[in-house]
Amino acid sequence: MLNLGILISGRGSNMEAILDAIKKDKIPINPALIISDVSDARGLHIAKRLGVPAEVIPSAGSRAEYDTMILDALRRYEVTPQNGLVCLAGFMRILGSEFVAKYKNKILNIHPSLLPAFPGLYSQKQALEYGAKVSGCSVHIVDSGVDTGPVIMQAAVPVDVNDTVESLSDKILSKEHIIYPQAVELFARGKIRITGRRVIIS
Ligand code: GAR
Repeated sequence: MLNLGILISGRGSNMEAILDAIKKDKIPINPALIISDVSDARGLHIAKRLGVPAEVIPSAGSRAEYDTMILDALRRYEVTPQNGLVCLAGFMRILGSEFVAKYKNKILNIHPSLLPAFPGLYSQKQALEYGAKVSGCSVHIVDSGVDTGPVIMQAAVPVDVNDTVESLSDKILSKEHIIYPQAVELFARGKIRITGRRVIIS
């Protein structure tokens, strides 16, 4: 069975959705470690309640030095490139290209827009300001760019005239909680194949 590492920076609601789904749907993956770069992240309390080991690795040093600390922790909990999956769930740091190369096609991210639209920060605000009529979320493979890797799943929501950043974020978040666990399940069951930019789901 694969070992799962989840990296968070805050609320941890996607992490919770994944952990709940693993239990409820018997997804064949072992939640091995939660890592937070923020010491008082709400997600850490959830990890504790659910009995999943958690470590705080506060932001420090260069990107390469920080990445080495994360890699060490993943190794200690046996979330290796061979038998592991790393999920970024609201983790607000960017992983360096060496890290990404080491875990090639083994790192997933959830992003609150329909990529390639509105990458980076404040995606819901970007969508509103752009005047998009539809937005949503994307689960994608992490490559060395920012929100540029192959897309595994997406879900759309309508953008209404009365939407605020908060209301749009809430609508998108509820879809995130559906598609991220689904993508983890597909990965855990070996149903994802990547050819170039295309993710083929069997
Ligand atoms: C989610 O909306 C996620 O899509 C977003 O941060 C939020 C984390 O919420 N991620 C990004 O913007 C990454 N670029 P959570 O901590 O409750 O899962």
